[in-house]
Amino acid sequence: MRRVQVDEEIVGKFSAKTVFNRTGRTPLLRRGTQIRPSMVGALRRRGIHAIWVTDELFPDLEVQTVVRDETIAVTRRCLDDIFRSAKDSEPPSQAQALRLATALRSMVEDILQNDDVVANVAHLRTWDNYTFEHSVQVALLSVLVGKHLLMTEDQLVRLGTGAILHDIGKVTVPQEILQKPASLTTEEFEIVRQHPRLGWDLVHEGFQNIMPTSSIVVLQHHERLDGSGYPSHLKGDEIYVFSRIVAAADVFDAIRAERNYRMRYAPRKVLQIMQEEAGPKLDASAVQALLEHVAIIPVGEIVRLTNGLLGLVTGLNPGNPLQPLVTVVADDRDEPIGRQELDLRGTPLHVDQVLNDWPPGLVERVRDFQDMRSRS
Ligand SMILES: [Fe+2]
Repeated sequence: MRRVQVDEEIVGKFSAKTVFNRTGRTPLLRRGTQIRPSMVGALRRRGIHAIWVTDELFPDLEVQTVVRDETIAVTRRCLDDIFRSAKDSEPPSQAQALRLATALRSMVEDILQNDDVVANVAHLRTWDNYTFEHSVQVALLSVLVGKHLLMTEDQLVRLGTGAILHDIGKVTVPQEILQKPASLTTEEFEIVRQHPRLGWDLVHEGFQNIMPTSSIVVLQHHERLDGSGYPSHLKGDEIYVFSRIVAAADVFDAIRAERNYRMRYAPRKVLQIMQEEAGPKLDASAVQALLEHVAIIPVGEIVRLTNGLLGLVTGLNPGNPLQPLVTVVADDRDEPIGRQELDLRGTPLHVDQVLNDWPPGLVERVRDFQDMRSRS
């Protein structure tokens, strides 16, 4: 299976996972359903912009996720509840805070049980609400980092709770500004820059008694080690360790995933930006943990290699984020070649581009090629 953007191109494909509404209660599209044209608009109207489909050339490929779907669904429900109150400038109640922390504990348990060296965290947005989806993703990434920095389970729950709330202050920033495709004016940027403090004002009371360190993350996640961050221009150790981890996860998620559902940068560029920021601005050990233990290019992505070959990522190589295992199906002119499993580690090759789908007509050409081969 692989993640695809919901558009006309998915008509005829088969859904590989049941898609639920935002609260995780009502199924909108069941696993195994063949997608009809009317479903595309229906999914998009409900804010769903990415789904899992069965890949035509790799129908048996299963993608293991780090956190169980049920855990994610419960976490979403709790966060949605808190975000709704926050929209009316209503701080989360103690009960909401406790429910969220309980959901985060399940996420931490899932992550601690998962013994993959490199975690496969898909990077396509499911929902059109960027802040909401980004929050869930940053929580997951932060807990993964904390796990590899050998934090205790309780620390991870507090870290994850702070991480999932880090951008809650954005709930009160007008959508026109958050979704503006052009660059922001100075005034608009000033409004956006208020979100750490707005978020802190919202949550610190509700969380003060149960997890004070979680709310610090909300206030500090845009501080940078060299003092260039905001709102308080804190430096180095003045920034709490949870905040430093969330800052790294926040940047990583933002550059790895394009708001418009595709990677904003080539994988090599993601790696380069993270490496440049590590040290002067971002915590080097948090960045190192991310780059070593989270896939920049997850399993199930269609990729073009530096020599032009086209294939699907079928496995990951710890420590070699741009050199996973790839099953190649076509050459640089998109002509089918026999299926070849390549381990890019130790070769001069790496992934150059991540594609949204197979090039037009390729699936049919590969099938014809395979038929011909099996007959001859
Ligand atoms: Fe933020």
